Amino acid sequence: MPATTPPPDHLRQEVQNVLIGETEIAERVRELAAEIERDYADKDLLMVALLTGTVPFLADLMRHITLPLRLDFMGVSSYGDGTAPGELVFTKDLRLEARNRDVLLVDDILDTGQTLHAVLGKLIDLQPRSLKACVLLEKTSRRQEKVTANYVGFEVPDEFVVGYGLDYAERYRNLPFIGVLKPEVYS
Ligand code: IMP
Ligand code: MG
Repeated sequence: MPATTPPPDHLRQEVQNVLIGETEIAERVRELAAEIERDYADKDLLMVALLTGTVPFLADLMRHITLPLRLDFMGVSSYGDGTAPGELVFTKDLRLEARNRDVLLVDDILDTGQTLHAVLGKLIDLQPRSLKACVLLEKTSRRQEKVTANYVGFEVPDEFVVGYGLDYAERYRNLPFIGVLKPEVYS
């Protein structure tokens, strides 16, 4: 395997390199699903996914879990479409009952921790029986809030990554891999 994998030709202008390829993602997502399956075997699992970046991850993850889970979404986004975290706005509330259920929050990436901190705070008020978090990616170097995720797919370096749900200005979510965005795209 080469040290850095180049992106497909049509993305050469925008994506510096492939950080995590499709096969590696698929393997790790299966492992996370197996862990969740084990931990929630005798529980009443309610997966709460944050829009919009979780869509590919969530779709793959849940199909590898055979438990009778429930699924709901919360909408949360930060103002602005750049790479700096902005003020959080809730755009969609839960529809299902969370009280006395075992809630597993699913997000794309844990960065400063602002998002998870705010959402976990909102969920705890709903009195779930248990509350945990699962993220595909984590950047530990930029943490501001004291939050941790119970399930983490990959730790990534402090670079702006896109693909497999993650966006820059609402683009690149559909890439099947996770790549590092070229700084000239956003600076
Ligand atoms: P936090 O609130 O700073 O922890 O950031 C969480 C949110 O910031 C994620 O749900 C993403 O929408 C966004 N984010 C943080 N880092 C990246 C990145 O490298 N690429 C794309 N989105 C990111
Ligand atoms: Mg985003």
